[in-house]
Order: sequence, then C-alpha cells, then structure tokens
Amino acid sequence: MRHLIDTTDISVAEVDRIINTALDIIENREKYSSVCKGKKLATLFYEPSTRTRLSFTSAMMELGGNVLGFSDAASSSVTKGETVADTVRVIGCFADIIAMRHSKEGAPLVASHYADVPIINAGDGSHAHPTQTLTDLLTIRREKGRLDNLTIGFCGDLKFGRTVHSLIKAMSRYENINVVLIAPEELRLPSYIRREVCDKNNVPTREVSTMEEVLPELDILYMTRVQKERFLDEEEFERLKDSFILNPERMQLAKKDMIVLHPLPRVNEITRAVDNDPRAAYFRQVENGKFVRMALIYTLLQWAQESPAEGLTPRLGDELVRNDWRCSNRQCVSATEDVDHLFHQTEDGYRCAYCEARVKNN
Ligand code: CP
Repeated sequence: MRHLIDTTDISVAEVDRIINTALDIIENREKYSSVCKGKKLATLFYEPSTRTRLSFTSAMMELGGNVLGFSDAASSSVTKGETVADTVRVIGCFADIIAMRHSKEGAPLVASHYADVPIINAGDGSHAHPTQTLTDLLTIRREKGRLDNLTIGFCGDLKFGRTVHSLIKAMSRYENINVVLIAPEELRLPSYIRREVCDKNNVPTREVSTMEEVLPELDILYMTRVQKERFLDEEEFERLKDSFILNPERMQLAKKDMIVLHPLPRVNEITRAVDNDPRAAYFRQVENGKFVRMALIYTLLQWAQESPAEGLTPRLGDELVRNDWRCSNRQCVSATEDVDHLFHQTEDGYRCAYCEARVKNN
C-alpha cells in the first residue's frame, strides 16, 4: 500500500507522472469526471484549513467520488481519547482513502502504519506538507515551464514553515537548483535540512539578511507567513511577524519573469498592491492545488488496487530502527500517543522517524 507522508515517498518519475496527470486533467476535465465514482475520501482535519481541505473535497467531487470527514477534531471521538491509530482503522471501514492534517508531527506516519487505505499527509505540525509541494511543483511547471535550472528564494518563517521544508526536499532532486534563504536569525531553516537535504544533493544554499540584495537574481520568490500558532512566546512572535514585507517597490528590483509563490494564508508579508502584478502567482497556485490533488487521489487509488494492504498492523518499514529511546520534541506524535519508537539512521546519528528531530544521547 502506497501513502504520501513525505515528499520523498514518491520518486521524481512518480512526481512527474502526477504532475503530467494534473496537466491532462486541466486539458480534459470531462475525461476524469467519473474515474472515482463509488469511491470515498475521508478528510480528517485536526488543525484548521481553508485551501487544503476544501481543495481535497472539490478534487474528489470533480473525480465523481464522495467525501466525508471532520474539520474540527473537537467534534470527533478524539475528545474521548481515541488515538490516531484507532481512528484510521475505524475510518478505513468507511472510506477508500484518507487525507489527514494534524498538529502533532508524524501523526500521518502513525496513521499509515495502521490504515488499510492510502493515507495522505495534509500537513503535520511544523514538519511537512507534501501536497502543498505537489501544488508548488505544478505551479512552477506551468509558470516557468521547467523544474530545473532555477534560483529560488525562500522568505519568512523557514523554521516552522512546513511547506518550505517539503519544497526544498522536492526541489533538491532536480538539476541546477540554487536556494537562497531570507529569514530572521530566530526563524532560520532547520540545520538538518541544509545539511542532509541541500548539502547531500549538492544544492548551493546561501543565507541573506535583506530581500533587496537577492531579488534581482531570483526566478522564484517563495514567501511565507510567520506561523503565530507555533510560537511559545507571544512577544517573540510580535517582534518577528513583520520581518519581511513584499511590496511594489521591492517588486521593481525583481526580474520581469520572476514569480511570487505563497502557500497562503498571507497576513502582512505581501501587500495587497502586489496582487495585481502579473508575477504574483499565488492565487493561480491555489487552483493548481485542486488539480494536483485530483491527480494524486486518482493515482493513489490506482496504486492501492495494484497492491492492497496486507499483514498485521502496525506495518513498519524495514529501513526503520526500533528501540526504547525517546524523541525530545514535544510536538512529536510520539510524545502524546502510544507508538513504536522508530528512528532513521543518518550519517551523524539517529533521527526520529515521525518528526525528524535529532535523537540526543545515542
Ligand atoms: N496552504 C495551506 O495549507 O492552506 P490551508 O492551511 O488553508 O489549508
């Protein structure tokens, strides 16, 4: 059974297949209008969402399928203490595929160990957001005509911004990608992504402190919101929230064909006046999210038919190390749920399989 928990769960060739399917859907909507007839998508959203949940809903409806689920965990039996593992085993009796968003990092991975249907990670804490990445890749293909030979500036909250983490992982698999990081000291990209993703794939990365110094060389500017909900200290959020603001004056410094992406929602980081600039692609990006999720649902359901789930649960990958260490990240699903403690071995030690935090004292 194939799931989409992390961007790298699917190969570059499979990403290209999904993007090409999305492009075909855009051209031939009618052809796909009943390919999921009789199938049901469950959307389990333990965290708020506008775009992701509703684009999944719209995607399944346009494929001829049906949708069930919840948009507020408070209305589900999680309030009675039901675990993620039990929830997905139950929902698997009602639905053919599940899209899950959760504030705990690694919750969708736990779900994939127990579900008999494909699990899609629709965003887990500050960790990953692979379907936003597919949205971003489709947008880049449509806007720039390529996924290689690009200089991308990531600006804003690179620490908590899960869309940034997932997109950097995805882009690092293409040729001649340059990454420029524009963030305050406190919101810098987690060092493991720079080391284990960029350095390992020979992707040059550079940190700069102003947008102005880098705007003229960017092909893509990926803006992000400072993630208020992830801060433990409200004063720190207030101090950092307006660190970088894109406005028409700054846009004048950029290339004529640079595009501005943003996973949205935006707050203050892009002024409303930028919206009318043809290089502002963030609302076109939103619509691409529906098309690429159509392609993803369709593809995962095809793969599930080819290789259904089998055997006992939990179904743990052979590449994972299981032992009794504990992950120190309080936002990790392993801090609150009774799960097998699983780790990846890396060059410099071990990393929690759920949230990728480095394990200390091993
Ligand atoms: N981009 C994104 O994930 O938006 P939502 O939080 O509205 O789903």
